[in-house]
Amino acid sequence: MTRHLLDLDDLSPSELTRILDLADDPSRPPLLAGQTVGLYFEKPSLRTRHSCETAVVHLGGHPVTFRADEIGGSGRESMTDITRVLSGYHAILGARVFDHRVLEEMTACSQIPIVNLLSDRAHPCQVLADLLTMRQEWGSLAGATVAWIGDFNNVARSLALGAAMAGMHFRIASPVGFGPSPADIDRLILAGASGPPFMTDRPVEAAAGADAVHTDVWSSMGQEDEIAARRAAFEGFQVDAAVMAAATAKAVFMHCLPAHRGEEVATVVVDGPQSRVIVQAHNRLHAFRGLLRFLLEGTA
Ligand code: CP
Ligand code: NVA
Repeated sequence: MTRHLLDLDDLSPSELTRILDLADDPSRPPLLAGQTVGLYFEKPSLRTRHSCETAVVHLGGHPVTFRADEIGGSGRESMTDITRVLSGYHAILGARVFDHRVLEEMTACSQIPIVNLLSDRAHPCQVLADLLTMRQEWGSLAGATVAWIGDFNNVARSLALGAAMAGMHFRIASPVGFGPSPADIDRLILAGASGPPFMTDRPVEAAAGADAVHTDVWSSMGQEDEIAARRAAFEGFQVDAAVMAAATAKAVFMHCLPAHRGEEVATVVVDGPQSRVIVQAHNRLHAFRGLLRFLLEGTA
């Protein structure tokens, strides 16, 4: 059966651990020798594009990156036809899309693994790197507490799923209307969470006793029309020194980047000694190499 990764709960907890173990292994078996990986982008990217391309090269393959405008946008041909054609060229296909349903259309007809490189709903490759970074920091994940300050967006949804699967506690502070939905909470419990996450509208309350404090931009790509309204809604939701002081003394600060200093995070935090954002970004490479190895293991 062709495996796909649209979000982390497409994996079992032991498969998730296996990917993190492979990510921690610096060896580079030439599993992709003579093969290509297609990387499709409807939105801008720095980390995802570079880490994915580099990971493909680490395994002896060649990345073929293409943007939506290069294939004629959404009007030239259907995503089903595009996917069926590309399935005959590449070993794996990654896609960054505005609408998660495009990924579902791709998986419905693909003969090769489809990997979500960020959609409006999920960002699993980011969270593989986030879990790897926290595991490297503490040696293990089970029992640790992660706090999310802000929107329950694509990154937060994948992080909450990953935390549930790894036996971590997830706490969240969001403005009213921006937290997890009842369906999100059901999904977290199905993924292994022992109950609903601790939810509040006070950032210091969510950060209390946390081992890691995570946040993300107030307006994601595709939400440009909402910037002013979101800026108003998220006022008071900045991760600043007071929020970090509520966490454990050794707590780390994490952010998928790009970061907006002075909005969701204070400069003193993102550039301070507790910040792990650069190692987190570097781990995108190792995490994607681990994921590629996992997806290719069965076919080598
Ligand atoms: N964190 C992340 O996905 O960054 P890019 O949007 O630059 O790929
Ligand atoms: N939530 C952000 C993450 C960027 C990596 C976005 O979707 O724009």
